[in-house]
Amino acid sequence: MSRIPQPFIDDLINRIDIVDVVDKRVKLKKTGKNYSACCPFHNEKTPSFTVSQDKQFYYCFGCGATGNAIGFVMDFDKVSFVDSIEMLASNAGMQVPKEDPKKSNGRPKQDFKSLYALLDKCATYFIDHLKEHPDRQKAIKYLKERGLSGQIAKDFKLGYAPKGWDNLLTKLGTDAADRKALTTTGMVIEHEEDNKRYDRFRQRIMFPILDIRGRTIGFGGRVLGEENRVGPDGKKIKGSGPKYLNSPETPVFYKGKELYGLYQARQAHRELTSLLVVEGYMDVIALAQYGIRNAVATLGTACGEEHLKLAFKYTNTVVFCFDGDKAGRTAAKRALENSLPVMVDGYQIKFLFLPEGQDPDTLIRQIGHERFNELIKRGTPLEEFFFSALSEGLDIQTMSGKARLSKLAAPLLHKLPKSVYRELMFELLAQRTGLNQEILQELISEPAPRLAPEAKAEQPSEQYSSAPPAQASQQNSSFTPPSTQNAFEAEASFGAETASAIERNSPQQNEITLDQATPTEKRNNLQQGPIDLAIALLLENPALAHETTLPDMLESEEAQELEQIFIYLKEREAPSLVNIIGAWGGRFGTQAQNLLIERVNNQLLSLAKRSKGYNDRQELIDAFAKITQQTQALKRQNEIDKLKIKPPNQLSSKERARLIELITTISTTS
Ligand code: UTP
Ligand code: MN
Repeated sequence: MSRIPQPFIDDLINRIDIVDVVDKRVKLKKTGKNYSACCPFHNEKTPSFTVSQDKQFYYCFGCGATGNAIGFVMDFDKVSFVDSIEMLASNAGMQVPKEDPKKSNGRPKQDFKSLYALLDKCATYFIDHLKEHPDRQKAIKYLKERGLSGQIAKDFKLGYAPKGWDNLLTKLGTDAADRKALTTTGMVIEHEEDNKRYDRFRQRIMFPILDIRGRTIGFGGRVLGEENRVGPDGKKIKGSGPKYLNSPETPVFYKGKELYGLYQARQAHRELTSLLVVEGYMDVIALAQYGIRNAVATLGTACGEEHLKLAFKYTNTVVFCFDGDKAGRTAAKRALENSLPVMVDGYQIKFLFLPEGQDPDTLIRQIGHERFNELIKRGTPLEEFFFSALSEGLDIQTMSGKARLSKLAAPLLHKLPKSVYRELMFELLAQRTGLNQEILQELISEPAPRLAPEAKAEQPSEQYSSAPPAQASQQNSSFTPPSTQNAFEAEASFGAETASAIERNSPQQNEITLDQATPTEKRNNLQQGPIDLAIALLLENPALAHETTLPDMLESEEAQELEQIFIYLKEREAPSLVNIIGAWGGRFGTQAQNLLIERVNNQLLSLAKRSKGYNDRQELIDAFAKITQQTQALKRQNEIDKLKIKPPNQLSSKERARLIELITTISTTS
């Protein structure tokens, strides 16, 4: 049945690793011999989805989903069998053999050449519209307002997709094969059930994405201005879809592997002494206009390993440029994590944090090219950022802080390929923690912490509105738009947008970052301490908050959570558990909400309930007392650690007396 010869499929399966394929889409965790994650095919909180590297297949104990790498891509990316093979093959650098047309089932084989040619035609079509369309003034005015010169618009082949549902479709989709190609390249959205099609990009500034050879492989499209995105109340209004819409993954466009602007950077410099990785299309272009012609951007996704491998093909220095806000720092941590496996000797990575509220586009216009270059020079080297990111929230003067740092850092450094750089990093860690290399080597097998929360590819809700209205006015009378509901589904499954955009759209997702532990690690810990017990007790009986006062606590995520819950309950009469959980989702995002739900079933609590004379009020008072005790002990320990850092002969007599006092209280209280 299949048009692709079986031996080729077998060969493909042999050459790829299902773990890589799945891990690119759903972050996997090594669990013994296999890998696991929460199942992407059904809703669950504890991972029952397993990938076997030996057997090269996946299986979900929860919903029974199973298959090999090809099947996984089909189900996850929602693509056909053939498209799944095309994608996997192109990633593996394999060419899918052309089948004998006589043997094929009449379906012409899509060859890549025609797709590139078509995408080039689309680019030309958009460029022409920027010059000729009756509405072009609106687009030109927008570009001018953003300070773009005509020359730079030309260099980056900017174009304009006019209003209307089927302009491109009518112009370039004259026969069935062309219409099929338009769908394959993602330029047209096709709704198979009722055979309806419409242009993906409408009324947008178009940014063609070129591969390293200068071929057009996809597009980004920006809405014109903000005026139709923000209402008079400052709230977003539905109507124009996400700010940037990108081509979906297609046989010729794989977002995880392309860098916007790399082609132009290579054109501008025969030798690239460095590449600057920025977040947006407009950043690349503005920098280029101001003479910084080595900037590239990832396409609405985090900068991953593949991006870096590509960048390092053409340069040995990569400078990441992030916004100075919280989202920027989270993005930087994610980039840091992805950088480690590619750092071989001779490569350099730096991190540049811009002032809050600025992006390269706005900043270069303010400070100009020279001062911007100064900033780049002063970027933080990876080795420095690594330790500062990991030490966040730790007091590395204390023994416990040092221990925690080594536990976090060692498994991450283990990701570095064997190199002198790796040795040096371990040496730096040894210096900072006072632990010797042997102990550090033992720690490398700890599970590596996630530095930044996994970005979920969710759809901005405004996407609902990018479906055609039921009654669209059309130049082409034969065109009937798809129904609103279906059109949304069609577009939603294609246009999975950006990690960074989502972070911006829902800042609350960043509010609670499980910076230093994996979610599972975190979950297991949820059962353990008096803080966890206290939270569970309060969730079960919110009225208890009115009868108690919060104990003194050192800063920690749990402490913060307890405090938030406590204050929330104290301010309210008798909220139900459902109220509380609902409020949590609204305030802190679904991740925090899920953690809260898990807190309800606390092991310590069920244990306590089984004991004779169980009384929840007393239980809470005891838990609070324990917290107070622990806090005091920790504070004392911290103080001791600080005093102990100094050589004894350098302690003042007051300090010495305090040290003795502290040590003796410890021995009497514990
Ligand atoms: P930003 O929201 O920072 O946009 O997104 P920007 O580049 O500063 O855009 P302007 O200046 O308002 O025009 C950064 C990048 O994230 C992707 C795009 O690649 C964008 O350039 N993005 C953003 C999307 O893919 N979709 C979105 O809805 C938003
Ligand atoms: Mn911007």
